[in-house]
Amino acid sequence: MIKYADSVEKCTPESLKGFFVGWPNPPSPEKYVELLESSDEIVLAIDDDTGKVVGFVTAISDGVLSAYIPLLEVLPEYQKQGIGRELMRRMLEKLDGLYMVDIICDKRVRPFYEKFGMKASCGMCIRRFGKQAGI
Ligand SMILES: CC(C)(COP(=O)(O)OP(=O)(O)OC[C@H]1O[C@@H](n2cnc3c(N)ncnc32)[C@H](O)[C@@H]1OP(=O)(O)O)[C@@H](O)C(=O)NCCC(=O)NCCS
Repeated sequence: MIKYADSVEKCTPESLKGFFVGWPNPPSPEKYVELLESSDEIVLAIDDDTGKVVGFVTAISDGVLSAYIPLLEVLPEYQKQGIGRELMRRMLEKLDGLYMVDIICDKRVRPFYEKFGMKASCGMCIRRFGKQAGI
């Protein structure tokens, strides 16, 4: 069974392994814990049988008008079971009432976000790889 949590308190670095699939330089488990602790909102999906985190979503927000959702990921072996949808549903509930909630995503994931009433827009970004990014 999958349970959901909004704190990283009881998670060990071991329970957080396997994410950032395909990233050229994924963050270390310590950095991963740090980014979860530093986010304004998080939702974790945890496999009750193993205690492993199998999905997560984070948000950064001013709590007044705006929020940005930088990271959403479900472990490959847990995808297509409704976990991503539940993570997003819970996160959007937390951000309910804000004027803007933004995400930058690949075109291939657009249909997923459209299920939550999100609309395609135009974004700009900087991506720093390697040591430059401190990860
Ligand atoms: C995108 C992602 C989080 C979806 O998680 P998931 O647990 O597999 O999604 P769900 O099972 O909850 O799917 C919910 C719905 O979205 C659809 N969907 C899932 N992934 C999709 C995708 N990549 N593109 C289009 N639709 C998708 C499902 O078919 C399902 O549709 P339904 O409601 O009609 O049945 C997951 O595929 C993932 O982690 N991908 C790699 C990381 C990534 O791309 N993250 C997004 C960064 S912007």
